[in-house]
Amino acid sequence: MLHSVGIVGTGSYTPEKVLTNADLEKMVDTNDEWIVNRTGIRERHIADDKTPVSELCYQAAVKALEDAKVAAEEIELVIVATVTPDFAFPATAALVADRLGAKNAAAFDLSAACTGFIYGVTTAAQFVATGVYRTVLVIGAETLSKILNWEDRSTCVLFGDGAGAAVIQPVEEGYGFKSYELGADGSGGHLLAMLGGGSRNPATPETLQKKMHTLSMAGSEVFKFAVRIMGETALNVIEKAGLQKNDIDLFIPHQANSRIIDASVRRLGIDSGKVFVNLDRYGNMSGASIPVALDEAARGGRLKYGDNLLMVGFGAGLTWGGTVLKWSKR
Ligand code: ACO
Repeated sequence: MLHSVGIVGTGSYTPEKVLTNADLEKMVDTNDEWIVNRTGIRERHIADDKTPVSELCYQAAVKALEDAKVAAEEIELVIVATVTPDFAFPATAALVADRLGAKNAAAFDLSAACTGFIYGVTTAAQFVATGVYRTVLVIGAETLSKILNWEDRSTCVLFGDGAGAAVIQPVEEGYGFKSYELGADGSGGHLLAMLGGGSRNPATPETLQKKMHTLSMAGSEVFKFAVRIMGETALNVIEKAGLQKNDIDLFIPHQANSRIIDASVRRLGIDSGKVFVNLDRYGNMSGASIPVALDEAARGGRLKYGDNLLMVGFGAGLTWGGTVLKWSKR
C-alpha cells in the first residue's frame, strides 16, 4: 500500500552579505542595466570565506524542522542536493545530519545541479510512499560564489549562495505529490561544468592556471535548452497529475533568468500572476533556488491548503525535473 506523501515543513537561509549589481560594476566590465535587462537579477547573497555549504544547510534545516514540528531524531534520511559540497567526501549530508543531531538518519549527497531539489524530493517521496522511511529531510544548497571565475563577467553576475530545506512525510490521503518527471542528457554535460578537481582532471598547477576549478557555461545553448525543457516538463507533470494548466495555483520555476521564465510561461500559457519569482534578490542559487522560493511562497501566504503547486527545474548534466503536488499544510 503506497502512502500519500507531501511537504510538511520548509525553511531557508541565505548568507548576510549582499553583492549588488553596483558592486559588480567595480569588479568586472558590466553594468546594472545589462544585468537587469538580460537576467532580471539585482543582487545576490554571498557566503564569506569561512562559511561552507553545510552551514547554510544547517540553518535552513533547523527552520524546516521547526516549521514541520519534527525533532532531529525522527529524521531517517538526509539528502543534500548540491554541486558545491564541503568536500568531495565525506558527504555534506552526513555532516549536516551530525550537526542537527539526526542520529537515526542515513545521509547522502545528490548531484543534479539546479535540478537537485526536484531530484531530491522525488527520491525522498519514494522512500516515504513505500513505507521504508517516515521522515526525510531534503536540502538544496549551494555556495556557487566559491567556484565562480570572478574575472568572467558572463558568469559571475548570474549566481548566488543559499539553502532551502523541506521535510517530507506521509500526508492526508489525496494530498501531496501527484506526479514526477526526471530527465538527464549527458551529451550536453560540457555546456555547464566545472572540469577540474575530479578523476578526469585532478588538480595540478596547470588546471589551476587554466581556471578549470571554476564554473564554465555556454550561456546561449543553456538558454535555448532551458526554455524548451521548462515548458515540456511542466506540461508532462501537469498531465501526469491528471490536471489542466488552469488547475495550477502556483508555479515555482528554477530561478536562473527572468527571460527564461517569461518565455517558458508564455509558451505554457500559465497566468503570469501565478508564477513565483524571487531571482531579482538572489540570482541563480542552483539547487537552492526552488526550495528557497518554496519557503518564501509558503511563509508569504502564496500557498493555501489544497492548492496545486507546480515546480520545474533544469540545469547542469544536463538535467531537468518537475513535480506537481497538492499542498497539504493548513
Ligand atoms: N555585462 C555586460 N556585458 C556582458 C556581460 C555582462 N555581465 N556578460 C556578457 N556580456 C556581453 C557579451 O560579451 C556579449 O558581447 P559581444 O556581443 O560584444 O560579444 C553580449 O553581452 C551578449 O552576450 P550573450 O552571451 O549573447 O548574452 P545573452 O543574451 O545570451 O545573455 C546569459 C547571457 C544571461 C548568460 C544568457 O545566455 C542565459 O541566461 N543563459 C542561461 C544561463 C542559465 O540559465 N544558466 C544556469 C543553468 S542552471 C545550473 O545548472 C547552474
